Formats: sequence, C-alpha cells, structure tokens
Amino acid sequence: MSPEQNAAAFAPESGRRYRVLVVEDEPLMRQIIRDLMRGEGYDVLEAPGAEIALSVFEREQIDLAIIDLNLGGGGNGLEVLKRIRDLDPEVMAIIVTAYASVESAVQALQQGAYDYITKPFANDHLKNQVHHALNAKTLFRENRFLRRELREKYRFESIIGKSDAIEQVFRIMEKVARTDSSVLITGESGTGKELVARAIHFSSERANGRFLPINCGALPENLLESELFGYKRGAFTGAMQDKVGLLKAADKGTIFFDEIGEMPLSLQVKLLRALQERECYPLGSNEPISFDVRVLCATNRNLEAEVKAGRFREELLYRINVITITLPPLRERKDDIPLLANHFLLKVEKSLGRTGMRFSKGAMRALINYQWRGNVRELENTVERAAILAETDVIHSHDLPDKLRLSTAAPPAEADDANFTLEDLEREHIRRVLAKVDGNKERAAQILGIHLSTLYRKMQRYRLEAAPADGPPAEAAKSA
Ligand SMILES: Nc1ncnc2c1ncn2[C@@H]1O[C@H](COP(=O)(O)OP(=O)(O)OP(=O)(O)O)[C@@H](O)[C@H]1O
Ligand SMILES: [Mg+2]
Repeated sequence: MSPEQNAAAFAPESGRRYRVLVVEDEPLMRQIIRDLMRGEGYDVLEAPGAEIALSVFEREQIDLAIIDLNLGGGGNGLEVLKRIRDLDPEVMAIIVTAYASVESAVQALQQGAYDYITKPFANDHLKNQVHHALNAKTLFRENRFLRRELREKYRFESIIGKSDAIEQVFRIMEKVARTDSSVLITGESGTGKELVARAIHFSSERANGRFLPINCGALPENLLESELFGYKRGAFTGAMQDKVGLLKAADKGTIFFDEIGEMPLSLQVKLLRALQERECYPLGSNEPISFDVRVLCATNRNLEAEVKAGRFREELLYRINVITITLPPLRERKDDIPLLANHFLLKVEKSLGRTGMRFSKGAMRALINYQWRGNVRELENTVERAAILAETDVIHSHDLPDKLRLSTAAPPAEADDANFTLEDLEREHIRRVLAKVDGNKERAAQILGIHLSTLYRKMQRYRLEAAPADGPPAEAAKSA
C-alpha cells in the first residue's frame, strides 16, 4: 500500500493527515525515522533539539511526537515532553532511548508519554507503536465527544414543558442536581422518569462519572444480586471469572434503580446495608469493596402503600426518598402537549429528512383531548407514526389513530373548546362515526344509539355525506 492510500494515516475527525514531529539530534537517526513515518503516510516535521522542537510545536498542530531522550547538546527529551504536554495535554509522545537510560524512560511514561522504545529498534515496532498511539488518541477524542453529546442530550433543556407541574419539577431538579441527595422519581409509565434521572446526573458534579441504570423488575433475584454486588470467580456455577458489580462500576457516578418497587424484599435488606456502609461484598468474597455512588430511584408504585402491605422495607424507603420528584400524568398537564407534539414532530422530520410539517388544528385538538394512558412515550410514538403515514406536510386528525379521533367526540373539558356548541359536537361526532364505519348508516346508528331515521334526519340537517369520509379535519365543524 502506498503512503497516499493508507487510511490509518488520516485523522478521522478532521480528515487531514496525522502530523508527526521527530525530535532527534543525530541526523542519520532523524532521517531514518522521518522516512519511516513518511512511508506510513503521515506528515512529518523534524527538530534537531529542544528549542526548535518547541517553536515548531507552538506553530503547528502536532498529533504525535517521537522524542529522543538524550538530545546531546540540543537539550533533554524529558524536558521537551513536559513542555509540549503543557501546551497540549492530548499530544501523544513516544520516547526513544538507549538501553542505558530505561529508568528515565519510565519517568517519561509517568509524565504522560504513550510508550518508549529502545535503540536499536525494529522498524515495524516503531510503526506499530505510533499506529497504536494515534488510535488511542482518536478513541479518547471520540469518547470525549460522545460524553459531551450525551451531556447535551440530557441537560435540563432536553425536557420539554411549560406547565406549572413541570416547572415545579424543574425547580426541584435544579436544587437537587447540585447535591448528592438520593432522589425518588415517581410517576406513571412513560412520564419521563428516566429522562429526569439522566438530566439530574448530567447536571451534577458527577457528570463525568457514569450513569448506570438497572431495571429491578427485569432480572430474577439472584441475577440482580450478582449484577449489583459483583462476584468472585467460582462463587456459583457459571461464574467463570471475577465480575465487578454495578455499585462499584458506578463509582464516582450515579446508579439509577428503575422500578425499585419490584426489588425482592431480601435484596432490599442487602442493598440498604450496602448503601449505609458504602461498601459491599461481591458474592463469594469476604473482602468488602467500597464505592461512592449517588442513588436515584424510580417507581410507578406507591411505595408507602407497599410498605404498609409489607412488600417494601420502610428503612430503604427513607434512605432513597430524601427528595421526591413526582411527574404528573400527561393528561393533567395538557399545556405541555402542543410543545411536546411539535418537539417530537421536529425529531421525526429530522430522521426522515423532511421539513415544514405541522399539525392541523383538528389534529392538535385531538392530541390535546386524548387521555394518554401511556403518557409522553405514547404521544411520541403516535406523532412518529402519524408523521410517517401523513401524505402531505399537514398532519390531519384522520392521520391519527382512531382511538384519538373518537375520544375527541366526548365533550371536551378544555376552555379552548368552550366556543363549540353542542350541535357542533354532535355533527362532528356523527361525522367521525360515519367515517369509522365507512359510511355504513345502520352500523353508525347502532353505535350512536339512535334510530336509523333519526340518523338520516341529522345527516340532512348537518349536511353530512355518508361517503367514507376521509373528510375535513375537525375544525370544519365550526364553519359548517
Ligand atoms: N418532558 C419531556 N420532554 C421530552 N421528552 C420526554 C419528556 N418526558 C418524556 N419524554 C420522552 O418520553 C419517553 C419516555 O420517557 P422515560 O423513558 O423517561 O419514561 P419513564 O417514566 O421512565 O417510563 P417507564 O415507567 O415506562 O419506564 C422517552 O423517549 C423520553 O425521552
Ligand atoms: Mg423508565
């Protein structure tokens, strides 16, 4: 493969060639390393001594430096290493040294060099080390990028809402994020409990640590226990090697016990003890392991009632429930529905590569009036489906699932709809039922609980057609 073609010579994040600085006082050696690196396709710069190395480094963007430890009259390689790492802590460095000075090479590692190689070296060995170092650098960068992206994704602003209920949630979140308190997040399924937990973690001092969720309802007791506390090899059949438990793996970060109410009682006792002592015993070990984690929990059960029923340990409830955040069901914060619906619509648009989509007034009204037993998650899925199925940029109520359209026929409680007359609603309801049964008047009359003749009369009066009405959106009712 020619140097021009070597894909590994290019930095993936910028697409330019990696730039390597060779700091070596012996001209012949410098030339050998330079040619080796050029042969790999890297851009190569050279410096015979410390001073020039530093001035090159200040001027150019260098990904990796190969530094001879003993620069003769040209200075000390360790000093060069230290100064370039001060300028760019992410620069990779490989130290070249004679056997005699392996000790100082080890010192170089302590100062952040990636590795050292001893002279004389095999060409392939140097090439490999450089390759590995550049890979490590790229991984490190990607990792940092992903972390930043995660933090962006889960910051408070990613939680949509302006209702009083959600504003109240924001206020508590802001206060608790700065502390290390345990927080219990309650709410029906799909109300955003995990989203809130992540936002708390990523806004806290522990944001650089891990956020480890564990679903207490998803695993059988013994598995849950070994996941949490870890185990020693041979602790039980199938324990082929030591395993670090989640409590330890989340060290300096946050552990999120999802559906904590599902945790078996005996395990609750063990967890309580571990949280109190801040240490735990992996299965099959009598060496305690200490950990430093913040605990967030979520449940859709009423844990006080569970305590009364003897299904949840009171002491554990006290420990995890220093602060409670209650996420109200979506149907109790209808103000948030248009915001959320538009937010999810934008999100689908992006993934479909479309723009300019919107909801008709009727569709939005249907979304607002629906009961949303599955809360925000159900709304999100509904919007996604409607956007995918919609044939135009406007999502009409007939693009929404039937259950939503029919539910709007019930007299809406919203002030927004107060300007509807009963007749408006009756007309709309009849139209919807007719549409639903594809214009079959017998069936429609049955569903509506009226005589067929009454239905005919009303249809005439409201000028309704019995054709399988893919009809106008609900707002047409007003103008009729
Ligand atoms: N206020 C909100 N703003 C934006 N997205 C939200 C909001 N609330 C919930 N979501 C989204 O709704 C979905 C469900 O949220 P989440 O998984 O946090 O709910 P949950 O309460 O943990 O549900 P379950 O009890 O079923 O586990 C997720 O995709 C989440 O991103
Ligand atoms: Mg959840």
